[in-house]
Amino acid sequence: MGKLTAPAIRARKVRDGADPLVMVTAYDAPSARVVSEAGADLILVGDSVAMVVLGYDDTLQVTVNDMAHHTAAVARTKPEAHIVADLPWMSYHVSAEETVQNAALLIRAGAQSVKLEGGRKRLPMIERIRDAEIPVMGHIGLTPQSLHAMGGFKVQGRHAEAARRLVQAAKSLSHAGCYAIVLEGVPVQVAEMVTEAVEIPTIGIGAGPHCDGQVLVYHDLLGLETRLAAKFVRRYADLDTLATEAVRCFADDVRSGAFPSSRESYHLSEVELAALGISGL
Ligand code: KIV
Repeated sequence: MGKLTAPAIRARKVRDGADPLVMVTAYDAPSARVVSEAGADLILVGDSVAMVVLGYDDTLQVTVNDMAHHTAAVARTKPEAHIVADLPWMSYHVSAEETVQNAALLIRAGAQSVKLEGGRKRLPMIERIRDAEIPVMGHIGLTPQSLHAMGGFKVQGRHAEAARRLVQAAKSLSHAGCYAIVLEGVPVQVAEMVTEAVEIPTIGIGAGPHCDGQVLVYHDLLGLETRLAAKFVRRYADLDTLATEAVRCFADDVRSGAFPSSRESYHLSEVELAALGISGL
């Protein structure tokens, strides 16, 4: 089928008859292979890596070098899916020059586009990245990098004025050249208003069914992350339980002597055994 490009993704509006976009996070080669082989359209190398892989309590701890490291691991698998890499906190806040350099670092690591969080405040940086020929995905609503400013991981756009601001923000991101927008943690009706208001696809997470696509975090979807269970997470498997059970079986087998078996061991040939004067083993 070939990799979906940013311009092709940009054209994927459900109201125009397109299939909803499917995006799943991945942070390393095994998860990238699973996500791509399962047929996702996009792999997001999300800064959620900080929480679900590196064990931090928020996403603020990862640097652009960390993101490049994980993006490169995903890209080495040469997935069918389009790779979008998150610009982490403080990698697009200081200056336009730094922002473009950081976006370029992620593209050189193997991403085909970058994502950043925030509304109108981010427009100058979005335009600079776009002018460097790098496709940009926006992200509004509950933006985890604004954790402290928002006063926690809280649903956004609950009041009419805030809902209107989100619609305006989405329009300006689209106008500035974003090819798609992640809408996170907003009421269903607000996501519908935003999706109707813009020409580019919206990809929801905790934003209800009316978006042009959906994204979930790999570890949430597979039941590998057991600490957090946001309302919007659907666990399609319980890999944490399966993995714990598998490791417990290994431990039992080691302790009982059942592992390794003869078939799982290497053996000297009869000739070498004879040369060593060993027999009957
Ligand atoms: O980092 C991430 O996983 C994200 C998704 C929640 C959209 O940004």
